[in-house]
Amino acid sequence: MDKYLLPHKGEIVKITQETGSNLNIKTFRVRLIEEEARKKFKFLPGQFVELTVFGVGEAPFGFASSPTQEEYFDISIKETGLVTEAIHNMEEGDQIGVRGPFGNNFPYEEIKGKNLVFLAGGIGLAPLRSLINFVLDEKNRDQYGRVQMLLAFRSPEDMLYKYDFSNWENSPNTTVKYTIDEECEGWVHCVGYPHELLNEELDLKEPDTVFFTCGPPIMIRFITEELRNSGIDPANIITTLEMKMSCGLGKCGRCNIGRHYVCKDGPVFDLKQMEQMPAEF
Ligand SMILES: Cc1cc2nc3c(=O)[nH]c(=O)nc-3n(C[C@H](O)[C@H](O)[C@H](O)COP(=O)(O)OP(=O)(O)OC[C@H]3O[C@@H](n4cnc5c(N)ncnc54)[C@H](O)[C@@H]3O)c2cc1C
Ligand code: FES
Repeated sequence: MDKYLLPHKGEIVKITQETGSNLNIKTFRVRLIEEEARKKFKFLPGQFVELTVFGVGEAPFGFASSPTQEEYFDISIKETGLVTEAIHNMEEGDQIGVRGPFGNNFPYEEIKGKNLVFLAGGIGLAPLRSLINFVLDEKNRDQYGRVQMLLAFRSPEDMLYKYDFSNWENSPNTTVKYTIDEECEGWVHCVGYPHELLNEELDLKEPDTVFFTCGPPIMIRFITEELRNSGIDPANIITTLEMKMSCGLGKCGRCNIGRHYVCKDGPVFDLKQMEQMPAEF
């Protein structure tokens, strides 16, 4: 049997309730139980796993932690349906099946020496956090240029990874801006949709900059349009797609867009590649 069809046994070692709103998002820290599997399990920012709740089903989720953290990985999950609800009902110490890692990755090698801009909306920050923490890791930080982030949330209660913010803000040559949809009491950061703030809040004109964006499809559409209008090369605008998937191996045909299998050829694509695909995402 294909080794990627067999789930490893993972233990949920920590659960963090991220949001305090009706958008229920939790982060699950998972450690593979068998030492041999743990040693062999190597992932890169941008890749994903299939998590299995035994007796319920499985679903794909992007890695939300950096591979520089080797003993475990984090997955942030929004409660949406059957599998995500079953995972949300699990407790620390419970076991979960882990298949993967699958898919391609963010081009962390190719972007060395470049300036980076991260544009995230809601839970779209999860896969970007893997790359952000990789780039800002003190072992790697001097290999990348200036880092700018614009992190968008519906409201302050919907903010993810608040415990990371001071690390990010204090990293050298790094600026982090936050925005919410509507003004509210006590909020001292930006207000408005991220695409409306790009030119005002970020320095888009810095040469040799690569843009990473992830969030709801409508946000990605507006942001990529705005970046295109600002003259950014589509090959330097990178996103990650979340099509419905089943096998994760390029075999079942559930996730294809034209001739591309999102699970195998993606989930990471640049805008130049996406502009050549049928508009099915
Ligand atoms: C590569 C990849 C990475 C992902 N990373 C994350 C992540 O980090 N965190 C996270 O919370 N979710 C992520 N998702 C989405 C996640 O896989 C779905 O939310 C999950 O499969 C829903 O399963 P369910 O059984 O709970 O919902 P179901 O009961 O199957 O469905 C509930 C509702 O959600 C819709 N739905 C199911 N899957 C998707 C999907 N892929 N896209 C849009 N709508 C969907 C259904 O149509 C239905 O309306 C990712 C998906 C992919 C393909
Ligand atoms: S999920 Fe089966 S082909 Fe992509």
